[in-house]
Amino acid sequence: MNEMTWELFHQQVAACAMCPLCQGIHHKVPGQGDVHAPLMLIGEGPGQVEDEEGLAFVGPAGQLLTKMLAAISLPRDRVYICNIVKCRPPRNRVPEDAEATACMLHLRNQVALIRPQVIVLLGSTAARHTIGPEVRITRDRGRWFERKGTWMLPTYHPSALLRDPAKKREAWEDMLTLRDKLLELGLYSDLYGSSANEE
Ligand code: URA
Repeated sequence: MNEMTWELFHQQVAACAMCPLCQGIHHKVPGQGDVHAPLMLIGEGPGQVEDEEGLAFVGPAGQLLTKMLAAISLPRDRVYICNIVKCRPPRNRVPEDAEATACMLHLRNQVALIRPQVIVLLGSTAARHTIGPEVRITRDRGRWFERKGTWMLPTYHPSALLRDPAKKREAWEDMLTLRDKLLELGLYSDLYGSSANEE
């Protein structure tokens, strides 16, 4: 088996037709950011703007996410951001389990390449397909789950905050919980480094 590299990862995503989501999209959206970041964020799947641009979280939800990170002084280009599925589901519907499972190979490769110490799961789809199907976002957001030495924090998806701004207070608490963990692990200052390693 070939050793996984970023080049191979991008080739595999570009060539992937393991589920029907790739039919009718404009661009695959593999994810982007600092490939040496200790912090990875995972969303659900690309929306319209992401599909047009081929980049994760660049539409309205992405703009809110950038502000949430900035609120705890994390520059967005110092983290790695991707999604459970790399192709936009029609009309932004929730990815089906079979689609998420098919795409999991790519996410596993990304996690193996980055080896993040902390992962933030944005919304129910991201949390259920990583931590487990028993996760309930309203009940479990803001709680740490440890998996093989990696700390995982579910929180609301930024689109949910745009739909229901009353959830923003809890999302802010989750950002503080994230900052506390980064401080505890001695990672907070790493995220202020000057040179980002873009992929
Ligand atoms: N919502 C997501 O889950 N991911 C994106 O990239 C954009 C919106």
